[in-house]
Amino acid sequence: MGIEIRKHEGGCGAEVLGVDLNSLSDADMRIVRRAYADNGVIFFRDQSLSEDEHIAFARRWGEIDINKFFPHIAGYPEIAAVRKEKAQKTNIGGGWHTDHSYDRIPAMGSILVARVLPDQGGDTLFANMYSAYETLDDATKKEIAGLKAVHSNAHVFGSNAYYDNPERREFSNDAAVGEAVHPVAITHPLSGRKALYVNPGFTLRFEGKSPEESRPLLHQLFAHAMKPEFSSRFQWRPGSIAFWDNRATWHFALNDYHGEERLMHRITVAGVALH
Ligand code: SIN
Repeated sequence: MGIEIRKHEGGCGAEVLGVDLNSLSDADMRIVRRAYADNGVIFFRDQSLSEDEHIAFARRWGEIDINKFFPHIAGYPEIAAVRKEKAQKTNIGGGWHTDHSYDRIPAMGSILVARVLPDQGGDTLFANMYSAYETLDDATKKEIAGLKAVHSNAHVFGSNAYYDNPERREFSNDAAVGEAVHPVAITHPLSGRKALYVNPGFTLRFEGKSPEESRPLLHQLFAHAMKPEFSSRFQWRPGSIAFWDNRATWHFALNDYHGEERLMHRITVAGVALH
């Protein structure tokens, strides 16, 4: 049986069927790479990846970007723990964002493997930034052509910031906070397509403008990209894996399972400078 690429329900992503990620041939990899570039996020079901196999799969895509904020799995600095304990109220990634846009060279994407799931809830939403860009009106496309935006993580990972709370204090890392500037509309390095590259989690303002001056257009772009027709909802099951591209999608981890544990293993793959 060959590989099948099936569009996920909704406006973002595709499911890759008929593969075992532990034994992908080079020809299979070419198909999977194409699906990744075209769809922004790809989903796999019924996989069985040990920590070492997770790392080996990630290395087929590029260098691993070691997370500077999240605790890692014991013995595996490459694997960040995306965990919510039974007693915790906050989750990781509980708002629309894309990872690492605050880095000068933002990460390509993340491979998230489900390890412990709540009985119900804990789905992840994904939004398609190719579609968000392509459906902007011509005047807005013209307005953002050549425009750059400033991204930062200080308000998320710095002192007195979102994660600097008693549940997540270990995430707070002032030494690693940073800012970067990227084009608002990028040409995607793999697909060559245009994608919208601002996100509510980390984009603060346009270059050369204050946050107040930037707000109307920035919020217009966020509201447009959040339209339900560009997004999909991924329901996790044991053996599920999502591999998203930070340059083509946003994601949002729903926090609707208080009192239950959820643990995901995340490996982030390094990217390239964006233009
Ligand atoms: C994240 O990396 O933002 C978390 C995604 C998830 O836990 O579903």
